[in-house]
Amino acid sequence: MLQFLSPTTAILGLVLVFVVWFFTPKKPAKLPPGPPCKPIIGNLDRIKGEGNALLEHLTNLTGQYGDNGLCTLYFGHRANVFVNNYEIIKQMLNDDKYAGRPEGMFDIIFKRKGLLFTDGELWKEQRRFALSTLRDFGLGKTWLQDLILDEASELIGDLAAVDGQPINPTNYLTPSVSNVICAISYGQRFSHTDQRFRKLANLVGENVKLTARLRLVQIFPFLRHIPFSGWQEAFVALTTNMRQEVAFFRELIQDHKAHLEGELRDYIHAYLIEMDKQKTNPLSTFTEDQLEMAMLNLFGAGTETTSTTMTWAIIYLLENPDIYKKLQAEVDEVLPAGQYPTLDLRDRLPYMQAVIQEVQRMANLVPFAIRSPTEDVKIHGYEIPAGTIITPNLYAVHMDPQYFPEPQRFNPERFLDKEGNLKPKVEGFLPFSIGKRFCLGESLAKMELFIFFASLLSHFTFERASGRSFSSKKSVYGNVVNSPEYFEIIFEKRQY
Ligand code: HEM
Repeated sequence: MLQFLSPTTAILGLVLVFVVWFFTPKKPAKLPPGPPCKPIIGNLDRIKGEGNALLEHLTNLTGQYGDNGLCTLYFGHRANVFVNNYEIIKQMLNDDKYAGRPEGMFDIIFKRKGLLFTDGELWKEQRRFALSTLRDFGLGKTWLQDLILDEASELIGDLAAVDGQPINPTNYLTPSVSNVICAISYGQRFSHTDQRFRKLANLVGENVKLTARLRLVQIFPFLRHIPFSGWQEAFVALTTNMRQEVAFFRELIQDHKAHLEGELRDYIHAYLIEMDKQKTNPLSTFTEDQLEMAMLNLFGAGTETTSTTMTWAIIYLLENPDIYKKLQAEVDEVLPAGQYPTLDLRDRLPYMQAVIQEVQRMANLVPFAIRSPTEDVKIHGYEIPAGTIITPNLYAVHMDPQYFPEPQRFNPERFLDKEGNLKPKVEGFLPFSIGKRFCLGESLAKMELFIFFASLLSHFTFERASGRSFSSKKSVYGNVVNSPEYFEIIFEKRQY
């Protein structure tokens, strides 16, 4: 047959056959079941929707084809094992073998350095250092509370200056939240009018949107090279943003290097001292590159998550006026209008804490705790090879009626006991994930959410602006964070 073709056509034909074979999913026999898949695209033709609609669709699809909450979807030729069953998620996330992160597009940017997109010994050592250093620099300490209170007061000033004009809250919340992680990491806060700082803080949100546009590049990395495609443009924009952020951290690191004497002041200082201690250890993972990437992760994870949770809270309150009224009444009783909250008031504001937790459950800010086993693993009779993408689906657990009856209903009461006290633990509630890689900033985020949110409620009434509609159903999922679509509201100053 080949003799009837010209040599060029024959070679092209063979290349084509090879490409199709290479990209066609080769299903290992013992992966969990899933929908039938097509050559090259796998199950991509079955994936639809954006943001919350996408999360719901993926959960339904994997529920329909899976077994015991385990289902394999093929994104192109890569297998992705979705795990919707809470008991299995707990087992996996507490097991060292599942603590790997899969290879992906972010490796091109982070080069498997930092805290988020790393694994193995480097991740273990760096995570241990980050946890103990964040604890030393304030988690649970009064100076951190004072710092967050100062930021809250600046935020209230900024919002008051807008004088009731419709605004997007993100632009105001982000610099305030960002300054807290800046103070811990670099020992300094930035003025909210500092243009370079504002730009960097806002880049974090922009990166979420760019990453959402690069979903296909995660699967087919070569797409980022196609000229004039939206992918190339988004990838170039993302890497340019990251480079600007790294340049900023590099300057701060260089500045710290010139002043290493004296008491430990902040994360960078502590890191540089550790680097110096380990300089004769050939296996040391403490390097300046690693520090830059860790800064990028702490700045990104520490900024976008907390400020976006607050924007979700505003949306849910405006959609649930009775709950908003009840919350405002509790806050007014404990914290007269115009006052700032200290953390010791937490026990007196159980409803507010329940509202924050219900916001976290419904918003599913980080819906998936994406992993990759570091060795071949067996689970429920299935065999998953090392390196396969595993997606513990936190969204599925938060929407599981077994743990949260009427899961689509915004109902803070589910976090309260009969006496109206906050339940110490609610099974199935995992906004910060659990186990070996649970969120490094969990305690910091909880402090921030409490102080910023109570300060906002004590100073402003949130109001819808005429002609500007929004809905908690609509969101953008940027492959890590699930954010509301752009929206604007009015912060009406309360009388006191
Ligand atoms: C409401 C706010 C936040 C939420 C909902 C949140 C949620 C999460 C989740 C679900 C993970 C994934 C864990 C996993 O893979 O199992 C994570 C990881 C992480 N978070 Fe947060 N986070 C928040 C705030 C913060 C803050 C303020 C910081 C900064 C200190 C931070 C730093 C990190 C880091 C560095 C990781 C990576 C940990 C690792 O891979 O070992 N997060 N977060």
